[in-house]
Amino acid sequence: MNRDHVARFRARAGPISWEAAELARCTIEPELARMLHVAALLEEDTAITVAHAHAFGLGRSADLAAFLPTWDREEAEHGRALRALLAHQEYVAPEPARRSIALRRRALARVPIRPLVRRPETSFLFCVLGAAAEYVATVIYAQLAAQTRSPRVERLVRSIARQEARHFAFFLDAARIRGDRLTDLQGRAARRVLRSLWEPIGLPTLGRSTWHATFAPWLDDEHFRGRVARMDRIVDSIPHLAEARLMATFLDDLPALSRPGRGGTAGTRRSSAPRTRSLGIPSG
Ligand SMILES: [Fe+2]
Ligand SMILES: [Fe+2]
Repeated sequence: MNRDHVARFRARAGPISWEAAELARCTIEPELARMLHVAALLEEDTAITVAHAHAFGLGRSADLAAFLPTWDREEAEHGRALRALLAHQEYVAPEPARRSIALRRRALARVPIRPLVRRPETSFLFCVLGAAAEYVATVIYAQLAAQTRSPRVERLVRSIARQEARHFAFFLDAARIRGDRLTDLQGRAARRVLRSLWEPIGLPTLGRSTWHATFAPWLDDEHFRGRVARMDRIVDSIPHLAEARLMATFLDDLPALSRPGRGGTAGTRRSSAPRTRSLGIPSG
């Protein structure tokens, strides 16, 4: 295993900027608090993903063995910092979907683990999904940083975004290395699975209606939409995934999703897909 990407990951390490006492004195807008609440939920889901990774035997490869404990620790700290800020804000917290809470807790029981353990496609897909999620997390935190009027909160959010960007870089390198080693047959199989199970971050956790209420206004913003759509250029550049067009396909479906009754069965199709939990990657 080429471990240069592990060295790069370590070399770029740096702490996030927060102190609970300082954050307790910050006041933020209720809308921003709602978004950060969603971010905290997703950060907290990383622990579940790390458990999945170990169940799939992914921690046996040298690079993921080095990465996973640090990733787990850093994402948990993102969650704690956001909770420290949110504990003193007044806002109506968005609720995760009930079904998704149960799924998050029971996810492993539903996954057919044995056929997937130690398969090169599984490890490849885990890293691809990680890269996609961490890219979008970086974009979202940058957007949140631009929205706050509190310099203290902006510093925190930008420092989180920097760690997300570093997670992204690791996952992308790890995915490319794994992609190069897949046979064409394995690559085609992985690509099919990816296209059927990928969903934007937050969707499995929040459920469709809360996710949509949270992110739809952002996706109406052309600048934000354009940045998110760039995820495809990254994913499509990974071996075996040219023209996968995950985000574009999802965004193309959005107008129908936002207007129930105006056609489109995508909502029904996607909402019945608990299997997406099997390699569920959190926000990063
Ligand atoms: Fe991350
Ligand atoms: Fe994070």
